[in-house]
Amino acid sequence: MASLPHPVQYQGSKRNLVSDILRFLPTRVERFIEPFAGTAAVSVAVASRNISQRFWLNDLNKPLVELFELIVERPNEIIHAYTDVWNAQHQDAARHYFEVRENFNKTNDPKLFLYLLARCVKGSVRYNSEGLFNQSPDNRRKGTHPDKMRKNIEGVSILLKGKCKFTDLDYREVLAMAESSDFIYMDPPYQGVCGNRDSRYFSGIHFDDFVLALEDLNKRGIGFAISYDGKRGSKSFGTPLPEELGLKKIEIEVGRSSQATLLGREEITIESLYLSPNLQHECFSELESYVSRVPKQLTLLEKHGQFSALAR
Ligand SMILES: C[S@@+](CC[C@H](N)C(=O)[O-])C[C@H]1O[C@@H](n2cnc3c(N)ncnc32)[C@H](O)[C@@H]1O
Repeated sequence: MASLPHPVQYQGSKRNLVSDILRFLPTRVERFIEPFAGTAAVSVAVASRNISQRFWLNDLNKPLVELFELIVERPNEIIHAYTDVWNAQHQDAARHYFEVRENFNKTNDPKLFLYLLARCVKGSVRYNSEGLFNQSPDNRRKGTHPDKMRKNIEGVSILLKGKCKFTDLDYREVLAMAESSDFIYMDPPYQGVCGNRDSRYFSGIHFDDFVLALEDLNKRGIGFAISYDGKRGSKSFGTPLPEELGLKKIEIEVGRSSQATLLGREEITIESLYLSPNLQHECFSELESYVSRVPKQLTLLEKHGQFSALAR
C-alpha cells in the first residue's frame, strides 16, 4: 500500500498491518466505526481507498481524540502550535520536555500532547496509577521535524476532513449506538498485563464485557472485525474469543524477530483478525480469488476452521 500519512507513532498502531487487514474487510461501507481508534491508522487507510465517506472515531483517551480532531479539522492550528513547542526545545531539550509534560498533565491540552507523542520513547504512551502521563523523552531524537509533521497532518486532514464524528466514550456506549448499516473495526488494548490496567493505554477492558458486547452486535446483525490476539514463536498472547460467537479467525504474519533470527530461531510474529459471521459470506470468495491470483505471495490454509494468511 502506498505510504499513508501518519503524524505520530503510537504503540499498537496498525499502520504496518493495515493493507493485510483491509483485504478482509468490505469494499464499501456506509459508516466506518473505530471504538478504539488510537491514531486511527485503519480509518486513514479506509478513507484513502474510498471504502467509506463517513467515520466515527472514538477512544477513551480524551486528549488523544481531541488531538486527532484538531489534526483532521483544524490542521493549520495544530501545525503552528507544534512548530512553536518544537522550536522552543533547543537550549535544554530534556528540561523542555518535562516542562511540557507537567503542563500537559495539568491542562490535558491536546496540542502539547502532540509534542509529547512525537518526542517520547518509542512513541509509546505510559500513564502512572493516577492517570498522569509519565513517559520519558527519547534523548536520541528531537521529535518529528515540523516540516515533516506538516505533510503528515495535511495528508490525514485531506482524507478525513468533514467526514468524522469524534467521541471519547467507553467502547460499549459506541457499540450500543451502532446501526446495522455500520461496519465496526476494533483494536482493543493488548491483554496479558496484570489486572485490567495497562499502562501503555489509558485503560484496559474486561474480557467478559467485551464478549457480551460482541454477542449483542451479532444479535443486531452488525458487521465487525477485531484485531485481537497473536503469537510470537511458540508463545501465544490473549485469551481466545469463545467459539459461540461464530467468528472466523485469520492469522496474519507481521514479521520475524531479528533477535530470534540471529539466534538461529524462526520466531514469527502473528496477529489475529476475527471476522463477524455476517462478514464471512462476503469475503470468503474474495479470499479464494486472491489466492488464485497470487499463489506464491500468500499462503492460505483452511485448517481446523481457521484461515492463515501469511502475507509478504
Ligand atoms: C491498540 S490501541 C489502538 C491503536 C489504533 N488501532 C491505531 O492504529 O493507532 C487501543 C486503544 O484503545 C483505547 N481504549 C482503552 N480502553 C478503552 C475503552 N474502554 N473504550 C474505548 N477506548 C479504549 C486506548 O486509549 C488505545 O488508544
